[in-house]
Parts: sequence; C-alpha cells; structure tokens
Amino acid sequence: MKKIVVIGGGTMGNGIAHVCAMSGYSVKLVDANEQALDRAMILIEKNLDRMLAKEKITQAQKLETLERLHPALSISQSVLEADLIIEAVPEILSLKESVLREADSVAPENAILASNTSSISITKLASMTSRSDRFIGMHFFNPVPVMKLVEVVRGLDTSQRTVDAIMKTAEFLGKTPVEVQDSPGFVSNRVLMPMINEAIFCLQEGVGNAEQVDEVMKLGMAHPMGPLRLADFIGLDVCLNILNVLYEGFKDPKYRPSPLLVKMVDAGKLGDKTGQGFYLHGK
Ligand code: CAA
Repeated sequence: MKKIVVIGGGTMGNGIAHVCAMSGYSVKLVDANEQALDRAMILIEKNLDRMLAKEKITQAQKLETLERLHPALSISQSVLEADLIIEAVPEILSLKESVLREADSVAPENAILASNTSSISITKLASMTSRSDRFIGMHFFNPVPVMKLVEVVRGLDTSQRTVDAIMKTAEFLGKTPVEVQDSPGFVSNRVLMPMINEAIFCLQEGVGNAEQVDEVMKLGMAHPMGPLRLADFIGLDVCLNILNVLYEGFKDPKYRPSPLLVKMVDAGKLGDKTGQGFYLHGK
C-alpha cells in the first residue's frame, strides 16, 4: 500500500485522511462539494495543530503530513492509481452505491475497496462492486486521530489476502485492528447502541436527568463520556439509524429505538452538529 484515496470529507473522512497522511501514505481526499473539501482541509490542519501543541508531532511532521494530502473533487480521476480506497460518505445506501460503483469501475484491478460504514452490510455493499473478494469494512471511530480501534469487517466473499492486507495497514496507521464478521451493527454498535438507547429510556422515564445518567456511567463504569453525551457527539440521527438497522436486521424488539430519540430527531435536535441534543452545545 502506498496510495490511499479517502472518499468523503466529513468528520470520519477527514480523520481517516489525517491518520493515513500522518503515517506516510500519499492521500487523496475526495469530496464532490468544494466547500466541504475546504472545511475538511482546515479541520485537518487544526487537529494537527492540536497535536503539535501537545508535542505529539513536530512542526516538520505537520508540514510533511499536509504535503502528502491532496484534496480532489473527482472520484474517477483520483482512484486511477490507488492501492486502497476508503469510502466514508454519509450512511445513505444509494449514495454509497453510486460512489462505490464509480470507484470500482476505474480503480486498478488489485486495489482494495473499504467502507467505513457503521451499519450497512459489508456483504451488500461488496455485491455492488465487481471485487467482492477485495472489499472489506474498515470501521474507524471518532475522533479518528485519538481512538485506537479499527473494526475490520469481513464480508461473505472477502478474501483472506484482503483481510491480512487491511489488518497490516491498520497497524501501520498506529491502530489496533479487530477482525469481526459481517452482522448488523458488527460488534461495536451492536453493543454500544443498546446502551445509549437504554440511557435514553432512563431519561425518558425520569429515572435520572441527563447529567445523572451520564455521571453514573462515567464514574461507575469509567466511560470517558456518559452515553447521552456520547449520543450527542455521534449524532442522534446516526444513533437512530443504527438502532433501526439492528431492529430490522435481527427482527428483535430489544433494539427498538426509544420514542424520545425518535422525537429528538424529528425535532432536528441532532446533538453537537446542530447545537442541541440531550445537552446544549455551543452553536
Ligand atoms: N484530533 C486530534 N486529537 C484530538 C482530537 C482530534 N480530532 N480530539 C481530541 N483530541 C485529543 C486531545 O488533544 C487530547 O489529547 P491529550 O490526551 O494529549 O491531552 C485528547 O484527545 C483528549 O481530548 P480533550 O482533552 O479535548 O477532551 P477529553 O479528555 O474530554 O476527550 C474524547 C475527548 C477523546 C472525545 C473522549 O471524551 C472520548 O474518548 N470519548 C468517547 C469517544 C467515543 O466513544 N468515540 C466512539 C464513538 S462511536 C463511533 O465513532 C463509531 C460509530 O459507528 C458510531
């Protein structure tokens, strides 16, 4: 692996591009929206400055990282020489399908296509391409430069060679890869989302207010953020979407989303990104 293309300049995409470039890869960060691309590059520089201020990287490392990062608007022109393409566009199946089909149609034969999806079946996404053996889930966690895990998701047809290459690449990025099978929510969100959902039920039923629910989990279970604060951080729409994937995937009522979560999303209170969620944020 030498050349990586990251598609999608949102929170996950810019974080993934950041760590790939910092680890020495030549990275193209692609987003069709020029303003989103500009914002992504500004955010990467800001996060590098944060690491510089904490003396985690040097000024030279910051500059080298930025030199290895190339923003681009077109998928087909960017993937022509790629070794690895990581798709990190929003969790909308039709959007992922069009992005993956475009990348697959022009990428080199040997290139691996990975998706950062947090909820869509890797096997289903792989079937939209002509390379289901070279298709894999590479699930990063927010904030990407900080979180150590990459959940490596093996689809039905993913080859051992692809798994080995991605496990090695994730390690090279300074992450700890954990291989799991393709299943709704994989392991991470199958375990995390019911906890967040239950915390929202506690709030809804008045068992505790948001601060009380979060304090219990922070101080009693050593979670860095309480589940309600984490839901705001992830995005309430994202949480609802993943719970619906679990609910529909397993046909099990234990995954039913809390009515309060549905109501919050209906009201457009999506957490940090809208400034309002279970907490008020500075927007
Ligand atoms: N880039 C680089 N560094 C960053 C960063 C970023 N974007 N964001 C935070 N940091 C660094 C800070 O510089 C700081 O570094 P030091 O330890 O050297 O001081 C460190 O991370 C901690 O940050 P802060 O001091 O600002 O704040 P904090 O101590 O409250 O930590 C947090 C913030 C890292 C987000 C922490 O609260 C945390 O780990 N929360 C849980 C996050 C989590 O669970 N993420 C997974 C969400 S689920 C997901 O992403 C996938 C999905 O499918 C839904």
